[in-house]
Amino acid sequence: MQEKLSAILARAAGELAALRSRPEFEAAKARYVGPNGELTALMKQMGSVPKEERPAVGRLVNEAKAKLQAELDRALDRIEASELSAQLGPPVDPTLPSPDPGPGTYHPLTLIREEMCRILRKVGFAVADGPEVETEFYCFDALNTPPDHPARDSQDTFYFPEGARFGNIARRNPGERYLLRTHTSSVQVRTMLKGPPPIRIVSPGRVYRRDTTDATHSANFHQLECLYVDRGVTVRDLKALLDHIFGALLGAGAVTRFRPHYFGYTEPSFEVDLSARHLPKVNKDWIEIGGCGMVDPSVFSAVGYDPAVWTGYAFGMGLERLAMLLYGIDDIRYFYQNDLRFLRQFA
Ligand code: DAH
Repeated sequence: MQEKLSAILARAAGELAALRSRPEFEAAKARYVGPNGELTALMKQMGSVPKEERPAVGRLVNEAKAKLQAELDRALDRIEASELSAQLGPPVDPTLPSPDPGPGTYHPLTLIREEMCRILRKVGFAVADGPEVETEFYCFDALNTPPDHPARDSQDTFYFPEGARFGNIARRNPGERYLLRTHTSSVQVRTMLKGPPPIRIVSPGRVYRRDTTDATHSANFHQLECLYVDRGVTVRDLKALLDHIFGALLGAGAVTRFRPHYFGYTEPSFEVDLSARHLPKVNKDWIEIGGCGMVDPSVFSAVGYDPAVWTGYAFGMGLERLAMLLYGIDDIRYFYQNDLRFLRQFA
């Protein structure tokens, strides 16, 4: 018995060390310890070993089995390691200099976002953040946008399926649906719920709409939202701030104009047009750039502010539109294609 065991072990050691792949390994394993394997066959012969020799033979067989298992484990480790290194490709020396030609440059949307935040920080606005997955409360209900408002239609908005769960986004109302925010105005609500006025925030971020992509539309794009809440805020303050930020961004030639409009969360509401004829590629007198107005009392009520005490203004605008204007870009799709010939122009 001992000789047979030693012979098996010696052969297995040589054979297993030469294995290169998983199928080879599985076949070898079956040859030794499978139901019809050599070691299995020897173990089956234990019955015919005389009773008094059985403990000693049993020990030998168990030792041999353990040794063989160790050989098998080693072979499998080796095969797995070589599979992994084949997947990883040639080894990389992380201490070598990067093969990239340079440290990279900022995306034009990042440039615009940072410049706008810089301008607004200087006049007292703090940067606020909000999630891109929202609930109907933050995106619509608290913003005085009733269930039958067209913006809430599934034609316009990406809703998540009924069963979707987001552990970090709490629902206020049971049965409320999750959605991808259609505007950054939801951050107004989140900010006001965090504490009392005065509030002065700017919130840039990505928003989502069911738009078909063309030169001026994209299903996701970026907005910049501002909210100011204090005592005695007027439309004049709003207009003055907009004139200031566009002047600072685009130069003294930039002028804004308000057109009456309707938004549920502001009263009165306006659309903001921008005139910037001094910019090289601008060929229109007025370009619609965003929406604004005085915060509607119902929004204050929704967040627990007393509308008799507090006043405020809010506005939102598209960052792509602004970047297109400033840099003379004529197709929104350039922003998302990662074409270095486009991106390098902003280096
Ligand atoms: N949320 C609006 C939109 O996406 C823009 C907007 C309008 C924002 C009026 C505001 C506002 O803060 O007061 O079209």
